[in-house]
Amino acid sequence: MNALSKDLTKLVKMIEKIESRSGEPDRFRPRFHLAPPAGWLNDPNGLCQYQGLYHAFFQYSPFDVEGGLKLWGHSTSRDMLHWEYQGAALYPDQPFDCHGVYSGCALTEDGRISFYYTGNVKLDGDFDYVTEGREANTILVESEDGFRFGRKQLLMTNEDYPEDVTKHVRDPKVWKENGIYYMIQGARRKDDVGEALLFASSDRIHWLLKNRITTKEPFGFMWECPDYFEIDGKKILSASVQGLEGEKWKDKNVYQSGYFEVKGHVAEQCTLSEYVLWDYGFDYYAPQSFETEDGRRVQIGWMGMPDCPEHTNRTIEDGWQHCFTIPREIYVKDGRVLQRPVRELEERKRILAEATGGLYVEEEPVYEARIAEIKENQFHAVLGEELILEYRDSRFEMRFINPSKDNASGGRTIRYQEIETLNNVTILTDVSTCEVFVNDGEYVFSTRFYPENYGLQIQADEAKIKMWELVS
Ligand code: FRU
Repeated sequence: MNALSKDLTKLVKMIEKIESRSGEPDRFRPRFHLAPPAGWLNDPNGLCQYQGLYHAFFQYSPFDVEGGLKLWGHSTSRDMLHWEYQGAALYPDQPFDCHGVYSGCALTEDGRISFYYTGNVKLDGDFDYVTEGREANTILVESEDGFRFGRKQLLMTNEDYPEDVTKHVRDPKVWKENGIYYMIQGARRKDDVGEALLFASSDRIHWLLKNRITTKEPFGFMWECPDYFEIDGKKILSASVQGLEGEKWKDKNVYQSGYFEVKGHVAEQCTLSEYVLWDYGFDYYAPQSFETEDGRRVQIGWMGMPDCPEHTNRTIEDGWQHCFTIPREIYVKDGRVLQRPVRELEERKRILAEATGGLYVEEEPVYEARIAEIKENQFHAVLGEELILEYRDSRFEMRFINPSKDNASGGRTIRYQEIETLNNVTILTDVSTCEVFVNDGEYVFSTRFYPENYGLQIQADEAKIKMWELVS
């Protein structure tokens, strides 16, 4: 088939898909989670707060609800909860990024934002093959207002990365520390071991490789979307690791995103702790963090993973797919790294119900429920007659009652994690998203779901239960 007839076939398929939409593009659209107006969204990119305004960019395929050529979509917000779509920001329009403006970050300083991203280029040969088939370029674009973008500057190509890494090098994240700029990128070595490359620069344009960071034992074959930040004296290296298999990862989120604690300096000698998952549910990948102007570390992940062959998201029928998680504050308490929805959500809460031990509420699609002072480790909740949250035998489960690709589960079954003692649970539901924060967010479970009705039923002997609706 020649290129033109391939394109035509694709176009016809797209038109068929658009025509087959249910005509209700907003029936599953969350109110407080960033979602694309049309088409496909994946990773959060270029997250920042600049001159008061929050900017979120995202991997975006507006022309194809099932993904395709990636550009950067752009939305802004005053509170990280209500997002306004600003249009497509960065297009794949240069020889060094023509097959995808891939993931990257924002660095804000001195009246400008510097965006760094990976320019993806497909070459002859197998695109997924490790030593050919693609280029991964590191690109810088600057903006003075966050809306208009300067010239794209090609900073590094595959020639600038170590010889023993494959063509899989991507997703730069940049920060500044003691007057020096640092950049971390994810890489796949030729011997199929994942690692992070650490570059340094004095002018944010010319970069030198300073360190290669990996675990003692090989850990996955590729570390996508690495991130690095310090919080309360802890140094956190986050990565979305591809290729983790075996019993330990069974029935966990199969798109693993987690973090290592770093001992030493990332640009010099350093060692990594055990890997801890950010999220134990079905939908959480490629998180990126940024610092707000009031000094909070906020992280957002991509919610919507193609994690089992029969899995579908029902919004495909409506012409859009996937969304971001609720922005989460990362904080440290008693030495534990915890997550909670950004505090802006507190202002949206209106009390709906209060109870001890048990609660049943009908038809509420957007709410937060908090179950505190849990006694005897007893907890059971049913959401939308489809999703069960349960704690028993020292394990917390998120599972669907009636797994089928055509209902709320979209073909999913179960995720769980061993947790010794259960103290409290916060459930955040926003139409088609559910995020569950266990023990003050030490463990988080996230999933998309598509309930037919929104009943919430909770049983937890003697526990204090509160439920709020969330109003825009
Ligand atoms: C992670 C990822 C990144 C890449 C982007 C492409 O989901 O594969 O590594 O830059 O998505 O859309």
